Amino acid sequence: MEKKQIDWENLDFGYIRTERRFVTNYKDGAWDAGGLTEDANVVINECAGVLQYSQSCFEGLKAYTTEDGRIVTFRPDLNGQRMEDSCRRLEMPVYPREKFVDAVMQTVKANAAYVPPYGSGATLYIRPFMFASGPVIGVKPADEYQFRVFTTPVGPYFKGGVKPLTIRISDFDRAAPNGTGHIKAGLNYAMSLHAIVDAHKQGFDENMYLDAASHTKVEETGGANFIFITKDQKVVTPRSGSILPSITRRSLMYVAKEYLGLETEEREIYKEELADFAECGLCGTAAVISPVGKIVDHGTEICLPSGMADMGPVTKKLYDTLTGIQMGRIEAPEGWIQEIR
Ligand code: PLP
Ligand code: COI
Repeated sequence: MEKKQIDWENLDFGYIRTERRFVTNYKDGAWDAGGLTEDANVVINECAGVLQYSQSCFEGLKAYTTEDGRIVTFRPDLNGQRMEDSCRRLEMPVYPREKFVDAVMQTVKANAAYVPPYGSGATLYIRPFMFASGPVIGVKPADEYQFRVFTTPVGPYFKGGVKPLTIRISDFDRAAPNGTGHIKAGLNYAMSLHAIVDAHKQGFDENMYLDAASHTKVEETGGANFIFITKDQKVVTPRSGSILPSITRRSLMYVAKEYLGLETEEREIYKEELADFAECGLCGTAAVISPVGKIVDHGTEICLPSGMADMGPVTKKLYDTLTGIQMGRIEAPEGWIQEIR
């Protein structure tokens, strides 16, 4: 298989149309067999549930070329499981996780020419998503749905790669208690758009959202969870029912403990504690681990001791181990790596 002529090293996190995508439709209470198509366009009725009441959810994962030239994905079963959870919460039909993984594998295989080469710094981003395609005008779930998977080669989510970010504590809320913050609903992202545009206008890379009920506890950003490193090298991450259960974060906590022998803790983290941490990072499929150098709280700067030049030392170890596992340089825990054959 010959790779496409793409300037892999200089890709940003954008959409490039690749050749084939997976499509399946839900009608009369059942999913059809589904299959690959070259048609990247979706034609739906003007009254489709997704257009009227935002009934949609999605996932994000990546395919990597390993050091020895295989194409692999990272824990796709967990994305399938999370999508099931999103569907249930949004009254959408579940697309079973085994079929989800199969659809992901088929789509990556069909676009193997777009999987960036090992060492290029780029990866193939995979976007499974589901939306209500059937018409509804009363506020209720639609009867018909479409599930699709497309891929796009991507570079780093934040310009500048692994240069530490400056983020601000946001006055906007992302997710309500007992709302939809813990699932990957499109509506969570729609409501973060104004906050991120405003943050960028004010010169910040991202928003740190606090819990909506008390504005005292750290939640997450618009597209990543937080990890913090304490001065005595403990890896700490926020516990909250209104943040997305990041697969990257769960993997990092395992790696910290089992590969690096670090102490780990998932607990409520108060805004007041931020100045005590040694390092901070954003973690997610797109963000990988992006270091945070500065957190601005309404004009008050909290400068992490790790500084604005490089990733902190513990964050770097976590980054190297996780990406080492994903790129096949370090042996993965059982079941984490799924090879595309
Ligand atoms: N939090 C939010 C709001 C996200 O959109 C994402 C991205 O998927 C994450 C966290 C990170 O999750 P994961 O590591 O599963 O990609
Ligand atoms: C991801 O990391 O996969 C995300 O979904 C974050 C963002 C691109 C929405």
